[in-house]
Amino acid sequence: MEPIYLDYAATTPLDPRVLTAMLPYFSGEFGNPHSIHRWGQRAEHAVEAARAAAALVLHCRPDEIIFTSGGSEADNLAVRGAALAERERRGANHLITTPVEHAAVLATMRQLRDHFGFDLTLLPVDATGRVSPAEVAAALRPDTAVVAVCYACNEIGTVQPLPEIAAACRAAGARLHTDAVQAASQLDLNVQALGVDSLALGAHKLYGPKGVGLLYARAGRPLLPMQTGGDHEAARRAGTHNVPGVVGLAEALRLTDAERAAHNARFTALRDRLIDGVLAAIPHSALTGHRTERLPNHASFVLEGVDGNELLMHLDLADIGASSGSACKTGDPEPSEVLLALGLPRAWALGSLRLTLGRATTDDHIDRVLAVLPGLVTKLRAALPA
Ligand SMILES: Cc1ncc(COP(=O)(O)O)c(C=O)c1O
Repeated sequence: MEPIYLDYAATTPLDPRVLTAMLPYFSGEFGNPHSIHRWGQRAEHAVEAARAAAALVLHCRPDEIIFTSGGSEADNLAVRGAALAERERRGANHLITTPVEHAAVLATMRQLRDHFGFDLTLLPVDATGRVSPAEVAAALRPDTAVVAVCYACNEIGTVQPLPEIAAACRAAGARLHTDAVQAASQLDLNVQALGVDSLALGAHKLYGPKGVGLLYARAGRPLLPMQTGGDHEAARRAGTHNVPGVVGLAEALRLTDAERAAHNARFTALRDRLIDGVLAAIPHSALTGHRTERLPNHASFVLEGVDGNELLMHLDLADIGASSGSACKTGDPEPSEVLLALGLPRAWALGSLRLTLGRATTDDHIDRVLAVLPGLVTKLRAALPA
């Protein structure tokens, strides 16, 4: 039987149409976009066409797009670059974020607190992982430099009320960054409607290549560059462009935007059948994250008294690729901070399971998971020491 991949939140396969767009830039069109000659001009043209295409999807100006090596780098540049620039500009020394952020944001915020002397407020979240705009408004101070709230959480799929949070930040004069790395394949990326000052995404979560991403950085909001060197990307990010990667990112974004609605309708139906099936068949199981305000492709659970990593190994032996939450957490015996922030007891948080659907997921895949998973959970629970 064909193995079933249900870990599209960790990464997605490259869309063959994206590969076709990228291929010339590995060979014939190998120029450096900074070179003066025709080879360089053609590469520069490809990078600028990609920037314009990405800007169309994000509803921003092309010069507000900064190409990076991925989502992590885009988050680092947005958070650290804005924090240090705001401190220099107006002495702002306070940062706000949430406990449900990816490590690319949370570790950057903690580094700014521990090594650069910023004050850091971690906002509370409710049991579904949602941040309340009123809590954001209450935490904002005149010296708040940056607020970072993810668009959708990678571990639990919860979507945050960004436009309302953005309004609170704007009123207080603080900058709002959003990590849209998980959201980008499924949610609208109109940065004007979202009201954010910066937004990070990475190509490999949207059927594009690994090692390339972008940061939308609103014009007029200074960023201290994190990678210094040449004046690439208008002196905001040094380094010769990954031309095939940038071309692939733009093509992946364009296709995602054009096809999003059709995929989402299918994902939502499959996801809901999976969630209802798991909760009905497995006693002492619970959905993590919000029931409706969640990514269309995302189903995540906690299973009391089950070792999540052991379950993943058994699922792999049953030809099902799943995750315990985030790819960065795999193999870590500690319960995830995100799950603890929801108020879950440790014995539940250790049994986390994330199943994320993608373009190749079928009804048959969901049937097979529902046929295999309950038996595996019973077996693992029976093997527990009394
Ligand atoms: C929410 C979120 N932010 C950031 C990242 C990091 O992105 P990248 O792998 O492109 O560095 C990920 C990837 O797992 C993610 O899910």
